[in-house]
Amino acid sequence: MVTLLANPEWIGDERTVEELLRLHSVADLVALRVAVEDVEIGGQLVRAGEGVVPLVAAANHDPQLFGHPGTFDPERSAQQHVAFGYGVHQCLGQNLVRAEMDVAYRTLFERIPTLEIAVPLEELPFKYDGVLFGLHELPVRW
Ligand code: HEM
Repeated sequence: MVTLLANPEWIGDERTVEELLRLHSVADLVALRVAVEDVEIGGQLVRAGEGVVPLVAAANHDPQLFGHPGTFDPERSAQQHVAFGYGVHQCLGQNLVRAEMDVAYRTLFERIPTLEIAVPLEELPFKYDGVLFGLHELPVRW
């Protein structure tokens, strides 16, 4: 919502959903894995039984895949993001989430077209200390 309010020209455009999922990667720390056999990843040996904590947000900000990864750019192809994890255990709710995001943002801004953030962006209390990324609070006015 904050990103759309800061980039209002994209409100109502269905291309925003995948890019918002990539950019914010809200479930950064939940795609945990345990190696079932020894495996080498990026030159690092992971032994059977050892845990791996893949950082979804880091993958989604890989500059080799996504140029200027910190920029909100719905025109890019964000399809390769891993905001819902990867493999057989990837998020079961992902298609529901996509539909909900599209409907919720569209409806919110249709119903309250004058909605705006009530404090400067740099004062927003972002959550950097939780498993799920977000805001502690979002003061708005309309
Ligand atoms: C923005 C919202 C959401 C995000 C970003 C998200 C992301 C994720 C991620 C990263 C995983 C781990 C996947 C992996 O280990 O590879 C996961 C697992 C899962 N998610 Fe979500 N999720 C969201 C919402 C939902 C919703 C709404 C539901 C249910 C209605 C749901 C159901 C599940 C389930 C059941 C799993 C476990 C799948 C398994 O272990 O086989 N998620 N999700």
